[in-house]
Amino acid sequence: MLYHNLSVNDHGHLAIAGMDACELAATYGTPLYVLDEDLVRSKCRTYVQAMRACLPEGSMPLFASKALCFRGIYPVIEEEGMGADVVSAGEIATALSAGFPAERICFHGSNKTDDEIAYGIASGVGCFVVDNLDELRSLSREAQARNVVQRVLLRVTVGLDPHTLAAINTGKVDSQFGVPIETGQALRFVRQALSTPGVEVMGFHSHIGSQIFEATSFCDQVDRLLDFAVAVRDDLGFVANVFNLGGGFAVPYVDGDPNVDIAANIQAIAQHLANGCAQHGYPMPRILMEPGRSIVADAGTTLYTAGRIKTIEGYRSYVMVDGGMTDNPRYALYKSAYTVLNASRMNEPADFACTIAGRCCESGDRIAEDICIARPERGDVLAVLTTGAYNYSMSSNYNRVMRPALVMLHDGEARLAVRRQSIDDLLALEL
Ligand code: LLP
Repeated sequence: MLYHNLSVNDHGHLAIAGMDACELAATYGTPLYVLDEDLVRSKCRTYVQAMRACLPEGSMPLFASKALCFRGIYPVIEEEGMGADVVSAGEIATALSAGFPAERICFHGSNKTDDEIAYGIASGVGCFVVDNLDELRSLSREAQARNVVQRVLLRVTVGLDPHTLAAINTGKVDSQFGVPIETGQALRFVRQALSTPGVEVMGFHSHIGSQIFEATSFCDQVDRLLDFAVAVRDDLGFVANVFNLGGGFAVPYVDGDPNVDIAANIQAIAQHLANGCAQHGYPMPRILMEPGRSIVADAGTTLYTAGRIKTIEGYRSYVMVDGGMTDNPRYALYKSAYTVLNASRMNEPADFACTIAGRCCESGDRIAEDICIARPERGDVLAVLTTGAYNYSMSSNYNRVMRPALVMLHDGEARLAVRRQSIDDLLALEL
């Protein structure tokens, strides 16, 4: 089995953290997002402990809210000693409404509105990641209007191609995020920021992409960031206290995908940075990281009920489920591979070749193509693994399909954390 928290119980059903997936489906209905809170906590601890062990005091992981934003996640990451990265007023409000401390929030976004900037300052978020010069001016204006000096990191692009999907590759020079080092604009950005009232520059931020397997990409990123910091010091006399390295550690989705050793990677990055700093006589900065996927992806499983099963003779069989691209658009968007199990028949051979299709009127509405599962019957529960990241947070109401409920599993108990959307919810905004 892909993950150690999955097993097969005496009924031949899939068990997630010891809990019967078919019973969860019967109790809460399907589609259902299931999140193993204990696995999330263990991922948080891996980051926190590894970073504490080999990086300067004050270094910390910030959970990238975009991967999975709902109130119930924030107490978990707070208790585990993490901060949070957010990209909108909506994410800030969600975190704050769950009691998350504002000073541990880092506010991102390449096109924050002035209202969002004002809201972020008024909420007391600990740090803004300023994406561009224009934002710097707005932030300065809003901060001065409130008599606040806002701490900021400046987002730069280091000009790296970490060989991940183009859609999630953000480190290249030609990117809508951040200011490029290569063109000289980043240096001018820093110069401007240092003389801008209402902001205090703490250091730099860079994110090279997502679902990256090789530690070398992160070491290259560190090299380029440090070279830039040294050039800034030499030119402007400014020494950065903080480097934020963004997110991006990959997770395995299907058998054969490598398992990234998070702690070993952090240690390698820390060592690399320490060597570079020693070489340049640069004081070791505090390090922030922004893991999203690697905190929550493998803790999530989506349960569906198998509906109609259709065989197109000479072609293929379709198993249609009661959700699809509305709760998980990742196959439609990126052709992302997923592991699908027939949770009702775990002891039967997985020899039924099929494509799992969703329920939307859209031929791209698929969860997985040409896979094998134990031959399903209508009513079986199908489990799609590794759906904890970028599923709930990217879900939609296309075709007016309602968003699923989300349950959290903790210490052998299930707790409804997000209730299923209702028709009344759907109609609530319409006058
Ligand atoms: N920090 C920044 C500035 C980011 O842009 C991202 C992801 C992260 C952190 C978190 O990266 P992670 O640790 O999750 O790889 N929707 C796509 C992923 C988009 C990622 C966008 N930025 C997907 O479903 O694969």
